[in-house]
Amino acid sequence: MCATCSLHFYTGNKLNQLSNDHDINVDLGQRSYAIKIMPGVLEVLAAATASVVAQKHVVIVTDSNVGPIYLQGVASQLQNVATRVDQIAVDAGEKSKCVSVCDGLWQRIDELNTDRHSVIVALGGGVVGDLAGFIAASYARGLNFLQIPTSLLAQVDSSVGGKVGINLPKSKNMVGAFWQPKQVVIDPAVLQTLDDANYVAGMAEVIKYGLIMDFELFEFIEANVPAIKSRNLETLSKIISWCCQCKATVVQEDETEATGRRAILNYGHTYGHAIESVFGYGEYLHGQAISIGMVCAARLAKEMGMVDQEFCDRQTALFESVGLPTQCPDDQHDAMLNAMMRDKKVVGGVLKFILPTKIGHVELVGSPGPEAILRSLRNA
Ligand code: GLY
Repeated sequence: MCATCSLHFYTGNKLNQLSNDHDINVDLGQRSYAIKIMPGVLEVLAAATASVVAQKHVVIVTDSNVGPIYLQGVASQLQNVATRVDQIAVDAGEKSKCVSVCDGLWQRIDELNTDRHSVIVALGGGVVGDLAGFIAASYARGLNFLQIPTSLLAQVDSSVGGKVGINLPKSKNMVGAFWQPKQVVIDPAVLQTLDDANYVAGMAEVIKYGLIMDFELFEFIEANVPAIKSRNLETLSKIISWCCQCKATVVQEDETEATGRRAILNYGHTYGHAIESVFGYGEYLHGQAISIGMVCAARLAKEMGMVDQEFCDRQTALFESVGLPTQCPDDQHDAMLNAMMRDKKVVGGVLKFILPTKIGHVELVGSPGPEAILRSLRNA
């Protein structure tokens, strides 16, 4: 069926390009799936996603920024293979990752006669992926879903690994599930239409992968800042697949963050989530907040004797060279500390941090105490 669908719509080079050569497999037994990374894949989406959506009712969830640019094209592609395609758009921005928007989505997909054979398609950035994924995880005790990430942050990180969920007013990502997509389809070409702030913010997650597990990636980013800034498609495709491979490796080792291995992906996030919740969701983009968070975490690691000043300076220099913020807000430090104490990494009242020992390696360590954390919030 899938092959037939593909052949109906595409011939020649485009179809050949759909070969699995560049797919990354996330190997999770019965929950395994492919990440397809290909510039222009949105133009051949019917063929690329037929194995998931053919003969199915599809509900595309998107947002008010991405919808006007990509929804029509994606919907018309999916109409070629699906039995019915419905569309829902939420307001763009982190504030949509909340209970009331979730409630509206549950009601709407219910009205659309969504059933267990329906497929939710998340078309958008990290907010849409987390929200639509949570709808998929929770409605009718779980629907299949497909991720089509359109922001750099979502393409390199949040669309892979199955973390889905929403925020509570004071706690980021506190309600959610591990619910793996059936497929992730990434078109690096869509990054050309991403606004500058979100594009740069996504680079925080890219650099994070270099810092936590891949010195070579860190060096590649350092050596390719001009190409990254000009959004060179070849460079971006390489970086996206590099990060997705890193993420797939970690998720395969620890799908549900049970052993602590997956927690390395949260380098800078304890601080970053605190900044986001204390200053109001959307005030800082997630990538901006974790850039500052990684600077604070490195300061804490330095105080604990885990890294030297050279590490901190090199990390900060790379963030700044791509345009990321590195200065922690000067106020609300007590509120940030309180927010950190509500982090999911608090176990038995003890907060754990992911801290670096060198570029390419981090460790999960117990917090040295509130005074040291407060000091790490102060800009040097
Ligand atoms: N973004 C962190 C994780 O997926 O575990």
